Amino acid sequence: MSRRNELTGSAHISSERPPGFVLHERRKGLLRRSVDSVLQCESVPLTKLAERYGTPLYIYSATTIRERFAAFDNAFRNVPHTICYSVKANSNLSILRLLARQGCGFDVVSGGELERVLAVDRRAARKIVFSGVGKSREEMTAALKAGILLFNVESESELWTLAECAARLHKIARIALRVNPDVAADTHPYISTGLRKHKFGVPISIARTLYAKASATRYLKVAGVSVHIGSQITDVAPFAETVARVADLVRALRADGHQVVFVDTGGGLGIDYQKAGPNFADYVANYARAVTNPLRGLNLHLLLEPGRAIVGPAGVLLTSVLYRKQNDGKKFLIVDAAMNDLIRPALYGAHHEIVPVVQGDVQSEVRREVQREARSKNLPVKKEIVDVVGPICESGDFFARDRELPRTEEGDLLAILDVGAYGMVLASNYNTRPRPAEVLVSGKSVKVIRRRETVRELYSSEL
Ligand code: LLP
Repeated sequence: MSRRNELTGSAHISSERPPGFVLHERRKGLLRRSVDSVLQCESVPLTKLAERYGTPLYIYSATTIRERFAAFDNAFRNVPHTICYSVKANSNLSILRLLARQGCGFDVVSGGELERVLAVDRRAARKIVFSGVGKSREEMTAALKAGILLFNVESESELWTLAECAARLHKIARIALRVNPDVAADTHPYISTGLRKHKFGVPISIARTLYAKASATRYLKVAGVSVHIGSQITDVAPFAETVARVADLVRALRADGHQVVFVDTGGGLGIDYQKAGPNFADYVANYARAVTNPLRGLNLHLLLEPGRAIVGPAGVLLTSVLYRKQNDGKKFLIVDAAMNDLIRPALYGAHHEIVPVVQGDVQSEVRREVQREARSKNLPVKKEIVDVVGPICESGDFFARDRELPRTEEGDLLAILDVGAYGMVLASNYNTRPRPAEVLVSGKSVKVIRRRETVRELYSSEL
């Protein structure tokens, strides 16, 4: 993923941005001469969480999620809107519940995600939009029975399949066609979706014809237009250009006699993986202007499907350094998390900031010893260039390459930042590794929201 488009790090751990992940000073020793800084999630030191729950461990800040949702919602306060959090970013039930309690809706892309949302709150159905290029009959039927708000349909064949499912149930499916606006977005090619060559949506040029066909079916109710151009997009210009094209389509469709009530502009707003991003409220307000300006005067209900922007910076992956190793002068930190726990670096070349959980001069006996020795030899000890890698048998199993990090020792804890979105949801059991546990922190309270898998569970469905 291009570095330009990636965000964050150090400010997450600066005390300027409470109450997510902050460094907290801890004085040590009787004379209190040495000071360590310990990374906390809200009021809980990550060292405590490692002791109690082990590593690797996903840790989320509930307050960060609530605040980011509120900022997003507030940015659109001047227009009728519903935020439909994109469940694929992080689908843990506790996180869905937390968002549902804030009045959030949901964007689902499978029967599985639909079931998760309904398990959390059946009444959330009326705020669910269903996207995806390959919905099955079973999935459509489940969504119709639940009474979801809107199907974002991505092909003509899907229209007829949906009509058939609706007819069987004597129901009417509210639909939007997902149009492909042919707008380029500066992001990783795997997560760019709005170009003609991509599998997503229907070409905007044929949308009117398809809407005419859809409205001739009594089991389909044309209700809106949807679009999604990709993910991790930090420049708002492509969003504005896309929505301008959608606005033209809305006008044309209304002239054709359709009742277009909803415009769903999808998700895709990026975060800053490199450094502290701009103030989130300002950033999202700028995005809101880009999205709402082209729709002015159209009297629509806006649907938004953010995922990463809400939960991305709210999570870290806590890992322990297992071994230090040096091959031909190249240094490796081998940690106990691996690409199966967090695949973004391997899959997209994504950058995630990595910070030692305990920072300062005195982290451990070992470090004191190393520092004494280094000082006696006149060696610099503070920083070194390392690859941070996992135990999996692939060279793609890395979290950082040639990264400058403060020197860490075996047994030290590292936090991989900004993994709240597309972290745990993409985890696998490759190498028969149980997936990490997840905890949700709110102030001083800690809740285990997924217990660690056991190896036995991994093979219990096999013969
Ligand atoms: N709506 C639709 C139709 C989508 O396909 C997506 C993401 C979203 C909303 C939410 O996008 P967000 O606001 O989170 O950018 N695994 C990749 C990201 C894949 C995104 C897929 N679709 C990653 O780790 O970067």
